[in-house]
This record gives sequence, structure tokens and C-alpha cells, in this order.
Amino acid sequence: MVSKVSIEVRGFDISAVSFKSRSYAVQSTEFTTVLDALLSIKETIDAKVSFRYSCRMGICGSCAMVINGKPRLACETKISELKREGKTLVVEPMMGRPLLKDLVTDFDDFFEKHRSVTPWPIRANDSDRFDDKKALPQNDYERDSFLPFAECIKCGLCLDACPVANTNKEFTGPQALAQAYRYYADSKDQGARKRLEYLDSMENVWGCEFAGACSVVCPKNVDPALAIQLLKAEIAKYRLTGKVPK
Ligand code: SF4
Ligand code: FES
Repeated sequence: MVSKVSIEVRGFDISAVSFKSRSYAVQSTEFTTVLDALLSIKETIDAKVSFRYSCRMGICGSCAMVINGKPRLACETKISELKREGKTLVVEPMMGRPLLKDLVTDFDDFFEKHRSVTPWPIRANDSDRFDDKKALPQNDYERDSFLPFAECIKCGLCLDACPVANTNKEFTGPQALAQAYRYYADSKDQGARKRLEYLDSMENVWGCEFAGACSVVCPKNVDPALAIQLLKAEIAKYRLTGKVPK
């Protein structure tokens, strides 16, 4: 069944350095997503509405925004589900990020933090990583120990939801720390000591207050809050024994 819904876009107006609110009426079916509605607005009503997207299927992580007060992927959020929540539909940019234009935010700092945790397997001999004759097989147990954390699509929702990251820009944040654990737990990684020593600081794991909001909003069930607690436990064991527990 097709119905008409009102969607309010509270975007950032860079020329006025303030937020601008506009409301649009769009057609919606049971399956219409917020991204579909925004595309329809852009194509038929207001070409100036700006947002980021690519895959439209929850893979690229580009369409992250705040929808009815919660950080979500626009392509995975159905308007019919929001209506069941009984709220007016309001979309805003992610507030923890530098604002660029309308619903578009800057990810430079996000990827800098991601890079800071060395998000690739560290090898004693770095050329291993590029030598296809040196296959590094893993059994199911070894794969399962990091695989759930490897599902991250780098959408930034967890960082936007994190109360610590929103008040302390030095904090590395849940996305990067979850990836730090993902590589620490990977049997191919030989950088465990280096990782534990690097992550043992207030800017890294000890900054986490275990609010858990990151894991609630993650669309891929990565559970960054769990990853950070696992890292804390590994660092504590290392501190107590002097031995890398892995
Ligand atoms: S951990 Fe989840 S919420 Fe955070 S960036 Fe990755 S996919 Fe997005
Ligand atoms: S458009 Fe790719 S995750 Fe939404």
C-alpha cells in the first residue's frame, strides 16, 4: 500500500554555518527506505538535498546519518518501521563528525584513527604479506576468533553513538579499537606485543567507559564494546605476567 509521509531534513547549511530544516512529502510503501525517500526528494523535489550513499544494501557504510535521534544506515532503515515507532521522520547528519554539507560529514579523522591501530596483519617479515607462495592457512577456530569483528563496514555509526568519543576527540573510539582487536586475534598477526603496548593508554582502551552504545547501533553486529573489553583483559594479563597472552 502506498501512503504519503512527511520527512524533515535538518541539514547543515555551510554558508550560514547553521542548521536548516525543510519538510518534504514523499510516497512510501512498506519497503521504502529512508535512502529511497531522500533519493526521491533529490530527483523530484529539491536537488540541493545532499547526502552520501553508494551500495544501497548495507555494505559500503556511506549512508550513515541520524534518523529519529539514532545513528543508523539510511539504506537499511524502512520508513514503515519508523512509523511503527510512532515518530515523525527526521533525518540529521551525524553530530559527532565535522559537518560538511547538509547530511554529509567529514571522515578524515575517522580513517586517521582507523589507520592508527595498524589495521592489517603485522608480520616479522613484512614481505610475507605479499608472497603468495607463503600461504598462511587458518583453521575454523582461528578464523572464528576474529571473523565477527571483521564485518565492519566503516560506517562510523559506533563512533557517533559513543559518549566518550563525542566529548574527547583524543579517544581512538570503538571502530578503530574493534579493528585493533580483530588483527590482534588473527593467528596471522605477529605484532601482539606491539599492539598491546600501543593500546595500553587512556586515548585507547582505557578511555572506554563501557557505555555500550557502539554495539547497540552497529548495523553489522560487530560488537566493538566487547572487542575493547577483550583487549583490556589481554593488556591486564600482559601487565601482570610480562608475557603476551596470545
Ligand atoms: S563497528 Fe559497526 S558501527 Fe562501527 S564502523 Fe564498523 S560497522 Fe559501523
Ligand atoms: S548505501 Fe551503502 S551502506 Fe547504505
